[in-house]
Amino acid sequence: MHSFRYRDGKLYCEDIDLARAAESFGTPLYIYSAGTILDHFDRLNAALAPFDHLVCYAVKANSNRAVLKLLAEAGAGFDIVSGGELFRAIKAGADPTKCTFAGVGKARDEIEYAIDQGVYSFNVESEAELEYIDKIAGAKKLRAPIALRVNPDVDPHTHEYIATGSHENKFGIALGQAPAVYERAAKMRNIDIVGVQMHIGSQITESAPFADAIGKVAPLVRQLKSRYGIKFFSIGGGMGIIYRRALESGSGKWWHDHSGESSAFSVRDYADAIVPPVRDLDVRILVEPGRFLVGNAGILLTRVRYIKESSVKKFVIVDAGMNDLIRPSLYRSYHEIVPVEEKIRPSPPSSPWLGRGSREAAGEGGMEKVDIVGPVCESGDFFALDREMPEVHEGDLLAIMSAGAYGFVMASNYNSRPLPAEALVRGGQLALIRKRQTWEDLVRDEAE
Ligand code: LLP
Repeated sequence: MHSFRYRDGKLYCEDIDLARAAESFGTPLYIYSAGTILDHFDRLNAALAPFDHLVCYAVKANSNRAVLKLLAEAGAGFDIVSGGELFRAIKAGADPTKCTFAGVGKARDEIEYAIDQGVYSFNVESEAELEYIDKIAGAKKLRAPIALRVNPDVDPHTHEYIATGSHENKFGIALGQAPAVYERAAKMRNIDIVGVQMHIGSQITESAPFADAIGKVAPLVRQLKSRYGIKFFSIGGGMGIIYRRALESGSGKWWHDHSGESSAFSVRDYADAIVPPVRDLDVRILVEPGRFLVGNAGILLTRVRYIKESSVKKFVIVDAGMNDLIRPSLYRSYHEIVPVEEKIRPSPPSSPWLGRGSREAAGEGGMEKVDIVGPVCESGDFFALDREMPEVHEGDLLAIMSAGAYGFVMASNYNSRPLPAEALVRGGQLALIRKRQTWEDLVRDEAE
């Protein structure tokens, strides 16, 4: 479920009129729904209620402190991948003893900081890293809690850039090698073996790969439990969400959500797949969702600057660019794009999704095919190509849906464009949670 709905033809986030939000804070503007994030968190917790578990939110998906604070107050732990993420999480009120530290290239200062803060576990990706952590903990006369990230070699059927659980990827230690590495770890003086971890990829839209991977790792978990008394098994994140037709319209039913669920397969499907294979392991189960909690809870609001028609195409040039939301350019990922003000009311006689010639003009109440592009100087700077849209005009506001995960966090200053602002909605309250950068900000840290 998410809380973006049309009311009388105007798009709202919870009780906030998005056109008003754009007037208050300008565009491009990320807007997140607190209610949606908490609803997703609660659903996942409820589905995992049959066993001892901890939901460790993957901070990389959206690391604004206001978002972290919401989740920390709801009782979440955090999956962090850098010293910076741990710093943010602690600043947001996170309990470091509920934080796991993942990542293939942890640096000395990051490891020291995480040991000092008392993180729950280092999720270790190689023997070299294990030795390094042992050495650093030894210098501090402390012991570092570790879990090995094992690679179960399962194909998650997702985009190649975000598949992580096969032997072809740089992540984790092959399952077959893991017992020997654990044996080495057991002999290290400054290492405590506390768990085992896996993560097979992101935006996974079926439950079978999760069940397969758990099934493959479960025998190791049992062995480690009896040999070293491990406390937890983290099964990673990766639950996919719905990107297509992510929104229900009040009148025209142009955009509709399949089921009211924000995951591509429901939380129930996920729980049904993972509960049976983990139920008898008798260790705490950790999950590390990022996208599932925040993806459909956020949008990017952008305003149409110009309409440009060439002989073959109509371009809608908006004020957001690939520097603000890189997912369409980087992964060719699909994001629903909808008008903030619905201009078209009646349902068309046939499917609005029927393709038409790109130069065919939109009739009264009709649809047209356009490319929605940004102002950045790259042909890859697009949000949608050949997208069927209701007629769009200069000055219109558009909402790029499902932009709450891997949106702002992957933004950059490319083309010297200031980072966009972020706002959080809670019921009828709208709060600016990150100011838009200024041109001054762009040069502030450079040498004169
Ligand atoms: N745990 C680990 C070890 C991870 O590497 C990741 C994501 C997660 C958890 C959270 O995965 P999620 O539940 O969000 O799928 N930028 C890409 C996604 C990169 C994911 C990287 N790792 C995108 O925009 O699709």
